[in-house]
Amino acid sequence: MKRGDFALPGQPLQSPRHQLCHCNMPRPTRIEGLAIVSADGMLADADGHMPKSLLIEADQRFFQDRLDQAAVLVQGRHSHEGGGQRAARRHRLIVTRRIAALAETAIYPNALLWNPKGATLQQAWERLGAGDGMLAVIGGSEVYGAFLEIGFDCFHLSRVPDVQLPGGRPVFPEVGRDRSPEDVLRSHGLKPGAPHVFDVARKVTMMTWSR
Ligand SMILES: NC(=O)c1ccc[n+]([C@@H]2O[C@H](COP(=O)([O-])OP(=O)(O)OC[C@H]3O[C@@H](n4cnc5c(N)ncnc54)[C@H](OP(=O)(O)O)[C@@H]3O)[C@@H](O)[C@H]2O)c1
Repeated sequence: MKRGDFALPGQPLQSPRHQLCHCNMPRPTRIEGLAIVSADGMLADADGHMPKSLLIEADQRFFQDRLDQAAVLVQGRHSHEGGGQRAARRHRLIVTRRIAALAETAIYPNALLWNPKGATLQQAWERLGAGDGMLAVIGGSEVYGAFLEIGFDCFHLSRVPDVQLPGGRPVFPEVGRDRSPEDVLRSHGLKPGAPHVFDVARKVTMMTWSR
């Protein structure tokens, strides 16, 4: 996704909060990212699967509760949050290049397929029928990367230090041997808050990075 994909055609990239909206239509008021990563900054293994070793009970509780606060979730076509009935209630945009702009889907109730090349976030939000509120970005890599460019208000990053996923899928496209997820968040203007311990025995912590 390139800069400008979320802007109106012909306009420079702007945060969706500031995109021109000539009316009082509902829109995103805040953008939050959530991810849990391995020691080496991966969100999934080399086959693109998230291993069970990254499923941490307290993190899952935090994640699901935060998603319940969101007006809309945005995710890539291979991502999901689990969550059963709670997931079914959430408004969601599923990004895909398989359609031109916006299309209905039966994958989830209250969901819309969205190709950011063909429709702005504001257009997708209106078609979804969501109210004003927080947009929760739940990955994967390319989707997080696109929203780093637009600007997260905050990013909740959990880390599982006893899991390594060599050759796995990095949380952000820029993550590499010499660039950690924290380096990437810092380079996009975010600062770390206090660590919250989610699992004492496994030393799993979550930090919220904010502007
Ligand atoms: N640990 C975590 O916190 C976490 C978070 C998120 C995901 N995951 C895991 O990571 C794995 C999936 O990650 P992923 O990065 O491979 O997949 P993903 O982002 O969920 O899905 C990739 C697909 O999304 C669509 N897409 C992505 N960027 C797009 C763009 N800019 N414009 C249009 N469509 C776009 C494309 O779909 P089309 O092929 O339809 O065009 C692409 O093939 C899963 O195992 C998931 O469970 C883990």
